[in-house]
Amino acid sequence: MIRFDYSNQLLFTDGQIREQEQHVANAYQQLCDKSGKGNDFLGWLDLPEETDEALLNQIQSCANRLERQSEIVVVIGIGGSYLGARAVIEALQHSYKGFCPFSDNHAPFVTYSGNNISEDNLCELLEVLDNKDYSLIVISKSGTTTEPAIAFRILKKHCEDKYGKEWAKQRIVAITDKARGALKKLADVEGYETFVIPDNVGGRYSVLTPVGLLPIAVAGFDIRQLIAGARTMRQELLAQHKLDDNIAQQYALLRYMLYKNGKKIELMVSYNPKLAFFIEWYKQLFGESEGKEGKGIFPTGATFSTDLHSLGQYIQEGERHLFETVLSIQQSRFQVPIPEDKDNLDGLNYLLGKSIQNINLTAEEGTRMAHVDGQVPNLRLIVPKVDENNLGQLVYFFEFSCALGGYLLDINPFDQPGVEAYKKNMFRLLGKPQ
Ligand code: PA5
Repeated sequence: MIRFDYSNQLLFTDGQIREQEQHVANAYQQLCDKSGKGNDFLGWLDLPEETDEALLNQIQSCANRLERQSEIVVVIGIGGSYLGARAVIEALQHSYKGFCPFSDNHAPFVTYSGNNISEDNLCELLEVLDNKDYSLIVISKSGTTTEPAIAFRILKKHCEDKYGKEWAKQRIVAITDKARGALKKLADVEGYETFVIPDNVGGRYSVLTPVGLLPIAVAGFDIRQLIAGARTMRQELLAQHKLDDNIAQQYALLRYMLYKNGKKIELMVSYNPKLAFFIEWYKQLFGESEGKEGKGIFPTGATFSTDLHSLGQYIQEGERHLFETVLSIQQSRFQVPIPEDKDNLDGLNYLLGKSIQNINLTAEEGTRMAHVDGQVPNLRLIVPKVDENNLGQLVYFFEFSCALGGYLLDINPFDQPGVEAYKKNMFRLLGKPQ
C-alpha cells in the first residue's frame, strides 16, 4: 500500500495543522456526500467498484483484436483523452520497446497523435505507418477537439488508402460520448467499434474508463490489476474519515497550507524516468482542476537525478516559492550489478555490492536532506514498486486529493472554462464558420 510522509513539510506545528483539520474534513464531507461544486462530474469516484466484468471483457477482446492485426497502435487524443493512458503505459513498458519488440510482452508499440498541431510530427508518423501494420484508437469526449480531429482525418485517410475502406473499419476504434459530438456521428456512419465515456466523468478523471483502459490493455498490461489497485485505495480513503488516517486528506491539506504560506509551486519529482508521463498526467489533473479564479498551485515536475543537473541549483538556492512532492519508488524491477574493476581507475569500487536501486534511493535521501536544508518543504509518497496495482492506487489517490484540493480552494475542480480562450482566438483567426 502507498504511504504518505510529511515529516519534512518544515513550516507547520502539529497544532497549526490541527487548526485546519475541520477545513479538510468539510471538503472530504462535500466530496463523499457529493454535495460540492461540480458534483455532476463525480462518476470517477465510484468507477473502481462500478466497472463491470462485461465492459472489461469487451475492452480486452477489442485489445486482443487490435494486437493481432497491428505492430503499432496510434492513440489519437489530447489532454485527459490521452495523458492517463500514456502515464500508465510508459511507466510499465520497456523503455526501449521501439528498439526491441522481443521485450517483456508481444503487444504492439503504442504511440500517440493528435496532441499537438505539428505538421512535421504527423508527416514523420505517416512515414512510419507506410511500412507497418497499424490500428487507430481515436478518443475525444466532446468529439469536436481540433487537434485530434485534424490528426484523425489524416490518419483515417491513410488507413483507408492502405487497407481499403472496409478493412480500415476493423482497424479503427472510437471512444467518445454516448450521443453527442462529431466523432460519435462519424463513428456511427462508418460503423467503428465504439466505447462510451460516461457523462459524469471529465477527461482528466477518465483513466479508469475505456479512455485509459483500452490503450493500456492494447499495450499488454493488466487492466484488472490497475482497477484492483484503485479499488483498494478507494476503500481506504472512504473508510478512513479522520485526518490522522487518511493520506489524501493529509496530502491535500498540506499542499493547501503550503500554498497559503507562499509555496505557490509544487514540483512533482520522481527518480525513475519511466514516470515522466505520470508527472505529465499529474500536471494536467491539478493544473486544470485548481488553476482558476486567480487561485491554484502551479503544478510542475522533474526527474531526478537528471534534473538535479539542470534545475537543482534553482531548487537549492533560488526563490523560496516551491515545495517538492516525491514519488519514492522502493524497488526496481530489474538488477544490474556494478562490475568489479581491479584497477579502480574511475574510483567507483566503493560502490561494489550496492545495487543501482540502492544508490538511487541514497541519492533521493541526500537530495531530500539538501533541499530541506535549503528550506524546500518535502512531501513524500512511498510506493513499493511500479506495477499496475500501485499505479491504480496512485491514480485514485491523486484524483481524490485533487478534488479535495479544489474544495479547499473553494473552486469547482471539474470544469476548465479557461481552456476555451485560446480556441476562440484560433477559430476566429482560421475563419471557422460560426
Ligand atoms: O480534462 C479535460 O477535460 C481536458 O483535458 C480534455 O480531456 C481535453 O481538452 C480533450 O477534450 P476531448 O476529450 O473533448 O477531445
